Amino acid sequence: MAATILDGKAMAARIRGEVAKEAAEFSGKTGVTPCLAAVLVGENPASEVYVRNKQKACELAGMKSVLERHPAEMTETQLLDLIDRLNRDRAVHGILVQLPLPKQIDETRVLEAVNPLKDVDAFHPENVGRIVQNRPRFLPCTPHGVQQLLVRHNIPIAGAHVVVLGRSDIVGKPVAIMLMQRGQGGDATVTVCHSRTKNLPDILRQADILIVAIGKANFVTADMVKPGATVIDVGINRTETGLVGDVDFDAVKEVAGMLTPVPGGVGPLTIAMLLRNTLTAAKLQTNG
Ligand code: GUN
Repeated sequence: MAATILDGKAMAARIRGEVAKEAAEFSGKTGVTPCLAAVLVGENPASEVYVRNKQKACELAGMKSVLERHPAEMTETQLLDLIDRLNRDRAVHGILVQLPLPKQIDETRVLEAVNPLKDVDAFHPENVGRIVQNRPRFLPCTPHGVQQLLVRHNIPIAGAHVVVLGRSDIVGKPVAIMLMQRGQGGDATVTVCHSRTKNLPDILRQADILIVAIGKANFVTADMVKPGATVIDVGINRTETGLVGDVDFDAVKEVAGMLTPVPGGVGPLTIAMLLRNTLTAAKLQTNG
């Protein structure tokens, strides 16, 4: 039987509606409009699209967005100065530095320079530490989108064997930590696999929930999936045939119980969760 396709776009629209309503209530009470500053350095076409979509979503949710666009030759010092200015700007509540950054800039230094209260990506070590300790201020957008997709579709997480393929700071590591935490949306038994894992197909086949964020087009094939498993595809790969995920969608949909499409799966949820974090940031920085 073919898998149920999990519609991330529709779910994201609902979450965006919820955030828009809360943002309107917050603005009505406080007179403050949440504002996201997006920093784009260089001319990476994918980053341009992501940033534009993030800004559009902010505006549709009744929030402000400002774009700081800078040439690829920007120096690290110039970028750190810009972050310092945005940190001090009381009208800016969230700061998003779109990755990747040009080679001359040390990403770690830049992410560490963002005020943790404005860190809507949850990339600052203070916020990562809080997530590990299960007392989050912000949840990272893509992992939070994955978790919401599971929770809102009533897919059992507690006690399930979740296998995460990929160990990035943006997706693999945080999603593994979040799903193994005690409490709602957690309590999973988590295995993390990566490019050096031995017997990879054997381990992937043990997953009740398989989360794939390895950045390789069509990497997960039908023989790597347990019949009936839930498969979440976080990959976005540009190929000659267009955008594809890390999962061989056509083959895996014949085996999986549930499957996310690319595009229209996790991607839209990432943006919805960014809006949620921007509103949280505005609340944290507003008295009363
Ligand atoms: N580049 C790829 N994914 C992300 C993300 O979630 N946030 C930022 N800032 N950059 C990214």
